[in-house]
Amino acid sequence: TQSAQSSQPPGSTATSTVTVRVPAKVNVQLSVGGLRADGFHGLANVFLAVGLYDSISATRAEAPLLTASGPDAAQIPLDDSNLAVRAARLLARRHGLAPDVHLHIAKDVPVAGGMAGGSADAAGALLACDTLWETRTPREELLELCAELGSDVPFSLLGGAALGRGRGEILTPLEVTGTFHWVFAIADGGLSTPEVYRECDRLREAAGTGSGAASVPDPEPAPELLAALRAGDADALAATLRNDLQPAAVSLRPALAETLEAGVAAGALAGLVSGSGPTCAFLMNDADSAARTAQALLASGTCRAARPTTGPAPGATLVRPL
Ligand code: C5P
Repeated sequence: TQSAQSSQPPGSTATSTVTVRVPAKVNVQLSVGGLRADGFHGLANVFLAVGLYDSISATRAEAPLLTASGPDAAQIPLDDSNLAVRAARLLARRHGLAPDVHLHIAKDVPVAGGMAGGSADAAGALLACDTLWETRTPREELLELCAELGSDVPFSLLGGAALGRGRGEILTPLEVTGTFHWVFAIADGGLSTPEVYRECDRLREAAGTGSGAASVPDPEPAPELLAALRAGDADALAATLRNDLQPAAVSLRPALAETLEAGVAAGALAGLVSGSGPTCAFLMNDADSAARTAQALLASGTCRAARPTTGPAPGATLVRPL
């Protein structure tokens, strides 16, 4: 605010409000290994950041405070369970500071939608507080803090495209040529990620294949999929999209089958559930077909909103002060 701005001492480098913009993601490959002893699943996870963003602002305050805006702000927990609050506390503890910061989340990424919206807010809060508090945490250490907060948080900081191994937190950046066009069909209400993983295990047990690390082969990235990204070849990427959590998400939310069908009927090259869902992602040829398919999806009545966008998108980026 104006008054906060003018309260800065002359010549001070301190800033009153820091804002960071962080993208959503889709997993173009999500291959799920067996359940590990620590409760996580080994993954071969190919992340692509896409152009839906949350903005996280940090302002010095007398005490910790979290606020949120945007059409779905009411669905965001504003207590200490919020991943953005946990991020600020983690960084403060690391540097021996009080976590006295007002965090504001301007929400555009679907809540509990399988697009890493909560992870985006955590990565954004870390970077915003690190800038506000001038703690200058090295990039490698920021990525470690991200991994402590959640499996998808390091990728939210990094952006672009990356292979995630381990539980998804061990990242290797991937080369991508050009941009891919997408439509995201946003559902009413979210899905809980742990529940979707549990359903995946249950379906594997029911199919008699077992769900433990001994019975499920270690997941590997598909060479054809990495080649499609490198070549910028949407048709080849469409042929190799894969999400092992999709059967579980559809089992918990059978209506998603209709959304997936509607997107393909409306001209998508291919569709898949994004991460643990319920958002469905459709790969498109170009921006025009993305706009048309978004219209048709909305008209089909199988989703609450349909958003055309592109990926890869840059990772967490400081937008204020510039
Ligand atoms: O890492 P994060 O806290 O986001 O994970 C949330 C939950 O999702 C975990 O507690 C676990 O149940 C499930 N999960 C998993 N395997 C992964 C990542 C997440 O089983 N690789």
